[in-house]
Amino acid sequence: MRLRRKIRVRQHVNPLAQKYQNPVDCPDWEKVYAKLDQPLHLDIGCGRGKFLLEMAWLHQPNWNFLGLEIRAPLVEEANRLRDELGLTNLHYLFCNANISLRSLLSTLPAGSLQRVTIQFPDPWFKKRHAKRRIVQPQLVADLADYLVPGGIIFLQSDVESVAKEMCDRFASHPSFRRQGTGEWLAENPLPVPTEREIATQKKGKPVYRAIFTKVGVEN
Ligand SMILES: C[S@@+](CC[C@H](N)C(=O)[O-])C[C@H]1O[C@@H](n2cnc3c(N)ncnc32)[C@H](O)[C@@H]1O
Repeated sequence: MRLRRKIRVRQHVNPLAQKYQNPVDCPDWEKVYAKLDQPLHLDIGCGRGKFLLEMAWLHQPNWNFLGLEIRAPLVEEANRLRDELGLTNLHYLFCNANISLRSLLSTLPAGSLQRVTIQFPDPWFKKRHAKRRIVQPQLVADLADYLVPGGIIFLQSDVESVAKEMCDRFASHPSFRRQGTGEWLAENPLPVPTEREIATQKKGKPVYRAIFTKVGVEN
């Protein structure tokens, strides 16, 4: 794979700012993916998108991948790289996931959403900024409505309190059940680490991971 240009962007944007309150126009998915009727993996807050690029490369052509990201220049660059590699099962979309998720999911083929990842979301440490965190009750409810029964949500963070808050929000929704005994997962079950995950592990710091399953079928 060809190396990416490292484009410079603001480190954080405030998702509650007025300019991020407009829902995105839903793309014509038939034009986005070469094969629309196959499982979809959604990565919320995909950053530069390297995780999805590698996942889409590994799992072509049988899975589609969609990355949502609020920093537009990262999305532009990620789609440029996707095109360079000729991947037709991958798309990145600029949007505020807290505003646009429901309308996006409602336009995708029913039953396609099979896996969701939320990895190293911005922690927003100050108490008065906690509402800027991406895993809000409405986002959990929207995922519950569109994820297939048996579908999974994979969560990870390098901030234990943030990982715990994400888990508490999924656990308090009746559609989700946490896998395992409630301990953090020792390993990432996915074959590709994210950029933030690699950086965290290089520093020798812990990562807090959990998987939730959408109830409805036996796994
Ligand atoms: C710390 S980065 C982690 C990126 C990547 N998931 C990783 O693990 O390397 C969190 C990403 O979520 C994006 N983000 C934060 N709030 C968002 C929102 N409401 N909608 C979409 N993306 C958001 C940020 O712009 C940032 O790129």
